[in-house]
Amino acid sequence: DDYQLGEFADFMRKEMHEQPEAVRRALMGRLDERFSTAHLGGIELDARALRSIRRVKFLGCGSAYYAGQLGANLVEEWARLPADAEPASEFRYRNPVVDPDTLYVAVSQSGETLDTLAAVQELKRKGGRVIGMVNVVGSAIARECGSGVFLHAGPEVSVASTKAVTNMSVCFAMLALLLGRVRDLSVANGRRLVDALAELPAQIDAILADEEQIIRAAERFSAAEHMFFIGRVRGWPVAREGAQKLKEISYVHAEAYQAAELKHGPLALIDERMPSVVLVPDDELLAKNLGTIEQIKARGGPVIAVTNAELPDGLADVVLTVPRSEPELDPLLFAIPLQLFAYHLAAQLGRDIDKPRNLAKSVTVE
Ligand code: AGP
Repeated sequence: DDYQLGEFADFMRKEMHEQPEAVRRALMGRLDERFSTAHLGGIELDARALRSIRRVKFLGCGSAYYAGQLGANLVEEWARLPADAEPASEFRYRNPVVDPDTLYVAVSQSGETLDTLAAVQELKRKGGRVIGMVNVVGSAIARECGSGVFLHAGPEVSVASTKAVTNMSVCFAMLALLLGRVRDLSVANGRRLVDALAELPAQIDAILADEEQIIRAAERFSAAEHMFFIGRVRGWPVAREGAQKLKEISYVHAEAYQAAELKHGPLALIDERMPSVVLVPDDELLAKNLGTIEQIKARGGPVIAVTNAELPDGLADVVLTVPRSEPELDPLLFAIPLQLFAYHLAAQLGRDIDKPRNLAKSVTVE
């Protein structure tokens, strides 16, 4: 009740601006510089039990599911364990095979999402090993899981989740680091990632301080009726989350596509009325992503590039810059300008940002 708007016009903007502090809280006391790992006390598994995990599956709904995809990528990269994410809303209906060697991670801001709670109950009924990654302490999912990691994002009022989703990704990164360090992730690599995680709050601050570039981009594209969000591998969950944010609060139709999938169908939709937001991290796939922009431009499609690379002049119509992190953590930072873009575009259109039509903050019904 004492969570107030203060200087902000709405909670979504306030909560986006609270992200550096929220991430700092999520990391506090959990990064271990001495052993280049993370401590997540709530998981209650010792090194031997952590090593017995053969697979990780993230379960959540909406943005929590997309964040789970980002988490699965990190687990695969750092721990070399097969990992994936699945919408919790479908889980119980497909009579899932529950594997005792899999660590199931139930992800939720509210901790009250009925579909995620039901997935946890189904898992427990079948003897699955499940932990929660939840923001609200004492919530139904946190209680049902019994053990897990709190996100420490603080209260989130806006229907569109921002700081909680960011903290999900940060907590997944710590889980991946922990699982990696009990396996084959080297001390040097662990150290590189501990340092990069510690840098995130300042880097998010820098993106928020440069909000003007995003406001201008949102103004320029506020008349668009449809948009593509294009990402590749690490960028794919971020593209999905970017499209989700835009749909939720601006009601502009947005679709996310994996860059390499464009040529298998959706390229047919590209013309001057279909802007694409393309994620272009400066990683081993940079050249491929530049090629994607060229493909879109060749068909007359406007491009907003989100990047931490030096792009050739004039390649994209708008360039939104992001600070450089370690490549694996790029997706966490790339998500921030997409939140801001959705926010400012919705503001241009005069939407009720904190309470978009037809949506509830937590979905406690089927
Ligand atoms: C996020 O912007 C959405 N409003 C929505 O997808 C949300 O993430 C989803 O309903 C899950 O909520 P939860 O994290 O509280 O379980």
